[in-house]
Amino acid sequence: MKIGFLGFGEVASNISKWLKDSGLEIYTSLENRSQRTQDLVEKSGVNICENNKSLANISDILISALTPDEAINVAREIGKYSKGVYVDINNISPETAQKALEYIENGRTADAAIMGGIKKEGKKVQIIASGSHAEQFSQLNQYGMNIKVTSPHLGQSKALKMLRSAYTKGVSALIFESLYSAYKLDLDEELLECLKITEGPDFMKSALSRVISSAYHARRRAEEMDEVLSFISNYNDPIMSKATMECFKNISKTVNQDIMAENYKDVFKSHK
Ligand SMILES: NC(=O)c1ccc[n+]([C@@H]2O[C@H](COP(=O)([O-])OP(=O)(O)OC[C@H]3O[C@@H](n4cnc5c(N)ncnc54)[C@H](OP(=O)(O)O)[C@@H]3O)[C@@H](O)[C@H]2O)c1
Repeated sequence: MKIGFLGFGEVASNISKWLKDSGLEIYTSLENRSQRTQDLVEKSGVNICENNKSLANISDILISALTPDEAINVAREIGKYSKGVYVDINNISPETAQKALEYIENGRTADAAIMGGIKKEGKKVQIIASGSHAEQFSQLNQYGMNIKVTSPHLGQSKALKMLRSAYTKGVSALIFESLYSAYKLDLDEELLECLKITEGPDFMKSALSRVISSAYHARRRAEEMDEVLSFISNYNDPIMSKATMECFKNISKTVNQDIMAENYKDVFKSHK
C-alpha cells in the first residue's frame, strides 16, 4: 500500500516513520518546499514525487498534513487527481474541512484530528476520524497507528477537536490567570499546594507545564481560539471561549515567545 503525504512537517515525518517501519511505501513531494521540509524528507528517506498532483495520483491513502491555511488550496489543486482515500488531518474547523473535501472529485474522503502532540505522545497519540472513508483510513492501525473512527459523518472529528480545545485551552488560561495573581501576592506555592488536595497529586506537574506552554504558544493558541469561537457560536454564546482567546492574546503581548521558559516564575516575571 502506498501512503502519500501532502506537506512533510512534524506530523508527516513522525507518522511516516511508524508506517515505513511497518513496511509501507511512503511518498511525498518537494515542489516549492522549504529547506526545513527538504531536510525532514531527506532524513526520513521517503520516496519523492515530482509534484502534489502525481503524488495524489499514486497514493492509496493521501494524508493532508499542511499548515492549516493551505488545506483548501491544496485540496483544490489535487482534487481531480486523487485516486485513493483522501484524509484531511489539519487543525481546521468542520466547515473549512467540508470546503476542502468538496474538491476531492472521487468523493473518497475522511477528516481526522490528532488529539494531542504527535512528537510528545508518539505512536500512542489518538487520532479521531470521521467521514464516509474513515474506516479505510483506520486500516493503518495494522501498521502502528491509533485511529478511532467516531462517525461516518464528515466533520465530526474536527468538531470534537474544537470542543476539546475549548476545554483544554480554557483550563490553561484559568490556571495562568489565578496562579499569576497568586504569584503577585507571593501565594503561588500555597495555591498549588491547596489545589493539589482537591485536584490530585499529578495536578502540580500538569499545571506548571500548562503555564509554560501557554506562554510559549500564546499567539498560536489565540489564533486557534478564534476558530473555536466561531465554531461554538453556531450552537452557543461562547462566553468562556471568548475570555480564553482574550487571555492568550494578552499573554502573547507580554511574554517573550522566542525561548521556552524552564520555570513558571520566569514566565510571570515578564508578564504584566
Ligand atoms: N504537530 C502536531 O503535534 C499536531 C497536532 C495536532 C494537529 N496538527 C495539525 O497537523 C497539520 C500539520 O502539522 P505539522 O506540525 O506537521 O506542521 P508543520 O511542521 O508546520 O508542517 C507543515 C508542512 O506543510 C507544508 N506545506 C505548506 N504548504 C504546502 C503546500 N502548498 N503544498 C505542500 N506542502 C505544503 C510545509 O512545507 P514548507 O516547510 O515548505 O512550508 C510543511 O512541510 C497542521 O494543520 C497542524 O495544525 C499538528
